[in-house]
Amino acid sequence: MSNTSTTRHTRRVFSGVQPTGNLTLGNYLGAVRNFVALQDDDSFERLYCVVDMHAITQPFKPIELKSAIHEVAAAFIASGLDPAKSILFNQSRVSAHAELGWIFNCVARMGWLNRMTQFKEKAGKNKENASVGLYAYPNLMAADILVYRATHVPVGDDQKQHLELTRDIAQKFNNDFEVPDFFPLCEPLIPAESARIMSLRDGTAKMSKSDPSDNSRINLSDTADLIAQKIRKAKTDPEPLPSDIEGLAERPEARNLVGIFAALAGTTQDAVLGEYGGRGFGDFKPALADLTVEKISPIGDEMRRLTAAPDHIDAILAEGADRAAALARPIMTEVYETLGLLGGGTTG
Ligand code: TYM
Repeated sequence: MSNTSTTRHTRRVFSGVQPTGNLTLGNYLGAVRNFVALQDDDSFERLYCVVDMHAITQPFKPIELKSAIHEVAAAFIASGLDPAKSILFNQSRVSAHAELGWIFNCVARMGWLNRMTQFKEKAGKNKENASVGLYAYPNLMAADILVYRATHVPVGDDQKQHLELTRDIAQKFNNDFEVPDFFPLCEPLIPAESARIMSLRDGTAKMSKSDPSDNSRINLSDTADLIAQKIRKAKTDPEPLPSDIEGLAERPEARNLVGIFAALAGTTQDAVLGEYGGRGFGDFKPALADLTVEKISPIGDEMRRLTAAPDHIDAILAEGADRAAALARPIMTEVYETLGLLGGGTTG
């Protein structure tokens, strides 16, 4: 993707995670770990958001939502995000997201949203009964990013289409209101080895918080024993591992486990097959279980420690929200002026 339009804008990273149940190994390897890696790149400003307004687009229980917000914030911190280096906050505390989201409802076209595959997946067969918010979800996501004029967005592969829509919205706004380069065309940052972690029960389905089977995923909050047990039970096939990547082509479960190993070990699938090619899952699974426990269970332990003190998490989120709002407000003032609206959010 071209980054020609990012030059005028401050290099700024934005990403979000929904507080909708347990965070999985997929969220970690596809996104959160990348947030942490970007933290040491001083050429960027960084904002990481618990997108709680997105979580209400589908049925939810208020009491569970509250603890899920704390849990995602705890996962951010336990994974290594430092509130002194990155702005950590929750979306509903910064009203500019919802303000710009509404404006983008008036910029995006129905035809664009009709093409969104995630809406089709999430709404299922009963589209008539889906909330309007679920349909307009990608517009709020575009607002999350563009309200800070973020230039780079670390995400897993499943968010690619939403980011293309974000670019289309930015482009249309810039063109329609004759404000070239007002919003940047953001770049997705998608990790090569872990763009899409698949279910442990079905190598053709994405690992997901919403899968009814808990054995399909590793949750960041799982204990060491449970992690090892889920890896032992992971679906495989009877063949030994191949010695090169081509040999994984028709073997989705094997490919997924090798991919997880490579991502956790910080190496490539080729290197993993160099070591385990020709060996059976009886050898490979215990090594993968040990590696997963080593990398993931300390995060779960730290999350438990942090969520035991939700007031501390709230203080971090509130402070982050103040800093985020201070970045967003002048951009919103420009947006209102550009549209000829007499608002500007002067009341807060
Ligand atoms: P969410 O909450 O579903 O997932 C958070 C992040 O985790 C990534 N991810 C995965 N990566 C690899 N393999 C998987 N199995 C896997 N499952 C999830 C997602 O790609 C995502 O990066 N719409 C977003 C939240 C959002 C957002 C934003 C993201 C709202 N506003 C602005 C970026 C910028 C979502 O539902 O992610």
